[in-house]
Amino acid sequence: MAKNPLRITDTILRDAHQSQAATRMRTEDMLPACELLDNMGYWSLECWGGATFDSCMRFLNEDPWERLRALKKAMPKTPLQMLLRGQNLLGYKHYADDVVEQFCKKSIENGIQVVRIFDALNDPRNMEAAMKYTKYYGGTVEACISYTISPVHDEDYFVRLACQLQDMGADTIAIKDMANLLLPYEAYSLVKRLKSELSIPLHLHTHNTTGTGDMVYLKAAEAGVDIVDTALSPLANGTSQPTTESLVATLAGTDRDTGLDLSKLSEAAVHFRKVAQRLQDEGSLNTKVLHVDTNTLLYQVPGGMLSNLISQLKQANAEDKYYDVLAEVPKVRADFGYLPLVTPTSQIVGSQAVLNVLTGERYKMVTKEAKGVLKGEYGKVPGEINEEVRKKAGIKPEEIITCRPADLIEPEYDKYKAELGDRAHKEEDVLSYALFPQVAMKFFDWRDGKAAEEAAPKAAPAKAENEVRRLYVQDSGK
Ligand code: CO
Repeated sequence: MAKNPLRITDTILRDAHQSQAATRMRTEDMLPACELLDNMGYWSLECWGGATFDSCMRFLNEDPWERLRALKKAMPKTPLQMLLRGQNLLGYKHYADDVVEQFCKKSIENGIQVVRIFDALNDPRNMEAAMKYTKYYGGTVEACISYTISPVHDEDYFVRLACQLQDMGADTIAIKDMANLLLPYEAYSLVKRLKSELSIPLHLHTHNTTGTGDMVYLKAAEAGVDIVDTALSPLANGTSQPTTESLVATLAGTDRDTGLDLSKLSEAAVHFRKVAQRLQDEGSLNTKVLHVDTNTLLYQVPGGMLSNLISQLKQANAEDKYYDVLAEVPKVRADFGYLPLVTPTSQIVGSQAVLNVLTGERYKMVTKEAKGVLKGEYGKVPGEINEEVRKKAGIKPEEIITCRPADLIEPEYDKYKAELGDRAHKEEDVLSYALFPQVAMKFFDWRDGKAAEEAAPKAAPAKAENEVRRLYVQDSGK
């Protein structure tokens, strides 16, 4: 055993397939490999949260809570990890604190140990409630600094933020480099600084979108980072995480030896190679995501955002404006106080940049979401909002919010519970409904057999499958 082993979180069950295969891995794809994964010696396995919750119900006719219970049952030893967007939980708006509390409670009760909490704006007030309740219900709080590059995001900024999150009770700090913007030598320097200032473990999360991920991890390992996120080879690289096996082999025999067994990893990879092949066959995985995208290094715009811009412009028949929009993105971002570009801010900034270019006059039209940012509804932006832009968007001074946004939301859990009524089989259903009302309702209809009976009375096989599912749900539905 190395003196100071680098610990590994494998993302094969969450970010890897979210990034490469539109979050379409099913529980039945996971379960056969769970015993092997559980005996690997990972620091944690990321397997829930992010887009998996929505995707389970929307595309896979699966109950995300049942998935979590099944995974915990199959992996009793390894801490299971989830990704949580602070006060947004897994949805796209701020929820009241009582919903946040119930969500943290139920996630932990059903098997999550490590809750990785982030906020798109890096506003700690949006992370406060999730951190408090995760701790209260016995979870490990992993608080994130969302990494980005801008004139206000220097090393001092990130160190200050990390120390503040530590003071708020974080058990570990994660550097969340969602767009793979962090370069190897910057990673070395930032990790060194954070390791000298923090007294809690440091976890690093990056992707290999721009092709620098492996180098980032190697330099971070040299600088003393405690834990990194990698993915087993069948769903690694490109828009996903760097490869577990490669890093394990690289560090073997050094003082950062991970202690993981390469032959066991390759055994697990055999299983997931079949899963990846199936995802490719059904069209969920396009190998295009594996190509290195250096445009991100040039424009500092996440890869996913570039493809969104292209499709928005295509719809408007204005593909020739692509480079104008690319030049407009950093300007909008500056006007909005240098938001990190991550869901949902990447969409907000991108759409506004498209409007600014297509209307021929900047901020002639302002989206509802952009107005929300300008009003402070999303929280405090890292820099300063451009006052001229605020005026042009027609926002009056009295509309501007400076408090913690969730302080303005009345308790709402009981309202959701009453709305759902006897459609809820269990308390967790209320949370599914609170987060994704339409998607959850459609899923409940399917689950309760209504959709199958009403929509397709002759579809006997679907009904039979539904029956099996219903028994399964009842069986484990306590
Ligand atoms: Co990620």
